[in-house]
Amino acid sequence: MQDEIKKALSWRYAVKTFDSSKKLSESEVNTILESARMAPSSFGVEPWKFIVVSNPEIRAKIRAVSYDQTKVTDASHLIVIARRTDIRENITRELVERTAKAQGKDVSELKGLEDMVNGAISYKSDETLSAWAQSQTYIPLGMMLETAALLGIDTGPMEGFTATEIDNILGLKEKNLATVTMLALGHRGDDSFAELPKARRDFDEVVEFVN
Ligand SMILES: Cc1cc2nc3c(=O)[nH]c(=O)nc-3n(C[C@H](O)[C@H](O)[C@H](O)COP(=O)(O)O)c2cc1C
Repeated sequence: MQDEIKKALSWRYAVKTFDSSKKLSESEVNTILESARMAPSSFGVEPWKFIVVSNPEIRAKIRAVSYDQTKVTDASHLIVIARRTDIRENITRELVERTAKAQGKDVSELKGLEDMVNGAISYKSDETLSAWAQSQTYIPLGMMLETAALLGIDTGPMEGFTATEIDNILGLKEKNLATVTMLALGHRGDDSFAELPKARRDFDEVVEFVN
């Protein structure tokens, strides 16, 4: 298991050129999306949405505002990862309702949780709140990258685009969402980047043990 994980992690790289003829199955994509859904978040607020864009015309429009990155149209699947913009208004209520349902409790029994999360949210500025929601979305992104690698599925994470343009194309503002990252999924094509050696910092440079 440990060797399998290490192998998958060194096999994974950020694919530039996908093979547009290779499509993923619905079950493969759903397993990757499930790893995003199961991602942890601060207080469990899950301030995100994963939008799978299949429509070729819409993907062409997204590519046009993404520095013409071919993976936007050529990968088997494209997932837009968005953050919620209505944190102050809705996120605590949703958390409490969801938790009550899962634990078979009445929402009134979760007053402690509600007050704690509302308290943490209330002292944050709008700017800090957006950055907080945004940073949470990188957790499911990371989980999808790893899950896909373990399944032998290629990925191309992206931040190279004009987020507000993607929001416009997908009508995200009206849905209280804002684009943060995108993830292309599929299988690598004839891609010279696949051969590049990993240029990672050494283990001892990034890991410190305090004994
Ligand atoms: C959040 C994020 C955004 C990225 N955005 C882009 C992008 O827009 N276009 C691109 O070609 N690569 C993008 N990358 C890929 C990185 O450049 C790449 O992961 C990094 O150089 C390490 O290389 P490796 O993933 O191939 O090991 C992004 C990676 C991450 C994690």
